[in-house]
Amino acid sequence: MAFPEHFLWGGAIAANQIEGAWKEGGKGISVADAASYKPNVDNKEYNKHVAFSLEGVKQAALDPDTVYYPKRRGIDFYHHYREDLALFAEMGFKVLRLSIAWTRLYPTGEEEEPNREGIAFYKAVFEEMRRLGIEPLVTLSHYEMPLSLSVKYNGWADRRVIDLFVRFCRTCFEEFGPYVKRWLTFNEIDSIIRHPFTSGGILPELSDGNERKCCYQGLHHQLVASAIVTKMCHEMVEGSQMGCMLTKLTTYPRTCAPQDVLAALYKNLDNYFYADVMVFGEYPGLKRTELKKKGLLPEMREEDDRILKDGCVDFISFSYYMSMTESVDPDAERTPGNTVLGVKNPYLKSSDWGWQIDDVGLRISLLELYDRYRKPLFVVENGFGAVDAVTEDGEIHDDYRIEFFRKHFIQMEKAVEDGVELLGYTSWAPIDLISASTSQMSKRYGFIYVDQDDMGNGTLKRYKKDSFAWYKKVIETNGEVL
Ligand code: BG6
Repeated sequence: MAFPEHFLWGGAIAANQIEGAWKEGGKGISVADAASYKPNVDNKEYNKHVAFSLEGVKQAALDPDTVYYPKRRGIDFYHHYREDLALFAEMGFKVLRLSIAWTRLYPTGEEEEPNREGIAFYKAVFEEMRRLGIEPLVTLSHYEMPLSLSVKYNGWADRRVIDLFVRFCRTCFEEFGPYVKRWLTFNEIDSIIRHPFTSGGILPELSDGNERKCCYQGLHHQLVASAIVTKMCHEMVEGSQMGCMLTKLTTYPRTCAPQDVLAALYKNLDNYFYADVMVFGEYPGLKRTELKKKGLLPEMREEDDRILKDGCVDFISFSYYMSMTESVDPDAERTPGNTVLGVKNPYLKSSDWGWQIDDVGLRISLLELYDRYRKPLFVVENGFGAVDAVTEDGEIHDDYRIEFFRKHFIQMEKAVEDGVELLGYTSWAPIDLISASTSQMSKRYGFIYVDQDDMGNGTLKRYKKDSFAWYKKVIETNGEVL
């Protein structure tokens, strides 16, 4: 059997997509609370709630609505966590990846002292996990910056935010260190370049006419903050390990024409850039040159070189949903993907949302990452967003999801046989939750169905899909059933 004996099977969730209770327990408003519902078709009501501009964000903060801002209600994990954790335990989870909402501990991000009610909530969650034998893997920042830091500082574009984040992380290590040994700093740290507001709280009006430059500045601040808290975690939490977290977007050339190969190479180098900094503790020379030429090289302080070197991560984690394809042909057909738009690959099928399904791409990604970094890997997000139908008897026959996972697990197993050191796998997401990109509920990922529609109607009752029993079997047999 390929999977190591203590392989960490489990699932991944994020506070802002699952907890709800956006104003309970002293929680402040986060950027996610200003993210509005994006249906597949044009919808007048939705159009009233689009934020992402300074005015839009300010209005969103005053708006009490929870229909068009679905992340405010999530799936009410805040009140259902015992039931949900019990279901995860029933599947045999060894690990659960979850994030800590910055605004539950520091509602505006600037308080001197943390909100004790927020700490108590997470302690209760970790206590329950301990009782159930589920190890936590905690993301410190998963698209959850306090909204007031976005409006006041233009989010991560301002260096002062580093200290505020470090304060939040210190509290996490102090309070939750006894429960949590494995941590991640920023979810998909590369995403700030593609989603300035969601990932970095950066707003166009506050960016002096150069939002792109602000994004790279914000990224640099996140990289520095990540290194500072990595070092701090090692010092404060005995036996702790810190990982980076990337959107793994392995890119193929559309043809073997050298120009297409070159274009794909640039895409892949760009994708590696973020992990290069976090693993090697310095910017790669090629990227530095490129950013300089484009006038995008961030301002760096003298001490940053040392900070980056002192805070290298212990393992590499990543999300993998799909592969990408690149071509220099401007007429090449395009398709949407995980927060990106790419060229369509004629050899792959897509999900209803246009994300191209590529199980072999996971193996390729694992091999490339391991060969480049020679550090343990952790697949911390992978899954299939689909519309699920419930039968009259309350059953959900999601064979398509089982098929997706089965194929990906087989490729993962092959990568392990090839010699990749893989710590674990957490599916996105073990339970239906609010989509990050579209705030839809109808884009379902879970092994557990949650009775709630896009507009928030429903009982919130949890049902086991067919994939629930299947994943349970996979864990029970450590992949032998595959
Ligand atoms: C990842 C994010 O990019 O993709 C998750 O880290 C997100 O937060 C997941 O939910 C799936 O994307 P979406 O938009 O379908 O929810």
